[in-house]
Amino acid sequence: MAVMRKAILVSAMLYGLGLCAPAIVSSSSASSTPPGPSQLSDPSYGPTPGESDVYATYNGTARPFPGNITGAVLNITTGPPGADDLLFQNLLSAEWIIFSFYQQGVERFNASSFMEAGFPNTTYERIQQIRDNEAGHLRIFQDQISPTSIKPGACLYAFPYDDPASFLVLQTIIEISSMAFLTGLELQARLDTSRAALVAIAATESRHNTWSLIENWNSAPFAGPSDTIFPYANQILDFTNEWVVEGSCPPQNPVFPSPRQHLPQMTPAKGTKSILPGSELVVSFTQPDNQPRFADKDYHAVFFHGVSNISVPFDTEHNSTTIPESFDALGIIIAIIADAEGAPTKESVVAGPLILPQSPAVLSEIYTSG
Ligand SMILES: *[C@@H]1O[C@H](CO)[C@@H](O)[C@H](O)[C@H]1NC(C)=O
Ligand SMILES: *[C@@H]1O[C@H](CO)[C@@H](O)[C@H](O)[C@H]1NC(C)=O
Ligand SMILES: *[C@@H]1O[C@H](CO)[C@@H](O)[C@H](O)[C@H]1NC(C)=O
Ligand SMILES: *[C@@H]1O[C@H](CO)[C@@H](O)[C@H](O)[C@H]1NC(C)=O
Ligand SMILES: *[C@@H]1O[C@H](CO)[C@@H](O)[C@H](O)[C@H]1NC(C)=O
Ligand SMILES: *[C@@H]1O[C@H](CO)[C@@H](O)[C@H](O)[C@H]1NC(C)=O
Ligand SMILES: *[C@@H]1O[C@H](CO)[C@@H](O)[C@H](O)[C@H]1NC(C)=O
Repeated sequence: MAVMRKAILVSAMLYGLGLCAPAIVSSSSASSTPPGPSQLSDPSYGPTPGESDVYATYNGTARPFPGNITGAVLNITTGPPGADDLLFQNLLSAEWIIFSFYQQGVERFNASSFMEAGFPNTTYERIQQIRDNEAGHLRIFQDQISPTSIKPGACLYAFPYDDPASFLVLQTIIEISSMAFLTGLELQARLDTSRAALVAIAATESRHNTWSLIENWNSAPFAGPSDTIFPYANQILDFTNEWVVEGSCPPQNPVFPSPRQHLPQMTPAKGTKSILPGSELVVSFTQPDNQPRFADKDYHAVFFHGVSNISVPFDTEHNSTTIPESFDALGIIIAIIADAEGAPTKESVVAGPLILPQSPAVLSEIYTSG
């Protein structure tokens, strides 16, 4: 069975993370969607997260509430924004991406598609339940945004997967990445109640990830003593814009993420053999019209793993560096290029981030060949 999965993963490698044009876009146009009803500003409208099966065990294919109301919800009262409105607007836009990923999987696959691809007979049901949890996150984040601020709606999304195995590869990468940006959002939060909510959400994403590692990948469920802290959450959120169909967002949506740095994105260069600690890493910058401009000074690749980071010189002639050998090959390593050691400010970052999944090995295969 392991061999069979490996063969299937060839397509996951070909698709990689945005390495080739993805194909799945839902047919209705988000930009023509009317705004969501103003009742959505009232947290008591619709099922309450934690008090409804809709967010836990609903097993239909139709979009669960509030995922079935895709327009932005307009601010209905005038006044200053809530202290963490901006944070939750960013998080809600990101959540529409994650919810839509699972909803697409539910619509596109069924229990037999996963079983025929060699995955357990419970995988589809779990994907439905995670989809339900993500619908609950949509509602939780809507409720965290005060009525003086817009609640962003859904755009259209195109994800780089084409079969059950590549869907589950991307699922695992989305879940470990969301852990990383949630740690960064903790640093932005102004209210203690927001921080508590973020920890609770991060724990939920971690359960989703742990389930997949055990059940789908037959792999060790743990990532060492700590998941990876990445302080500049918006940079990871910006990276997910790769999956947003350009021009498809409701016109009332705020810029995502806000503030947005538009950093050049990068990927391990073609021919990369390994992204394990100690490997040489050559990167290529993936957006032709958004390339870094290196001045005549020192640049550093700053690698984040667990609660720490390690800076390594970045050779701007060959776009090469070395992944720190001392990191354990668990969880993820996140790399950015910075013009100062340790990337002390978000402005010091000039390219990235690049997510380097370490375990299970099947994930890193999307970046490696040979
Ligand atoms: C879906 O949920 C309903 C209601 O809980 C249940 O009756 C039904 O058996 C479930 N269907 C599947 C395929 O699990
Ligand atoms: C969305 O789902 C809720 C709950 O199932 C339902 O009451 C509502 O009518 C639906 N709204 C739309 C626009 O489909
Ligand atoms: C809603 O927010 C937008 C954007 O911040 C602002 O331009 C508009 O005046 C606000 N509307 C109300 C009713 O306050
Ligand atoms: C599951 O999906 C496959 C592929 O799309 C399809 O051929 C099959 O009929 C579906 N099975 C069920 C029970 O709906
Ligand atoms: C699902 O798989 C498990 C373990 O492989 C097996 O024990 C169980 O009978 C299967 N259930 C169904 C409904 O096929
Ligand atoms: C490294 O990246 C820079 C910036 O995009 C590019 O100009 C240069 O050609 C790259 N170097 C190599 C060896 O690919
Ligand atoms: C990276 O680590 C250094 C040394 O511990 C620390 O000073 C720096 O603040 C860290 N960078 C970030 C962005 O957290």
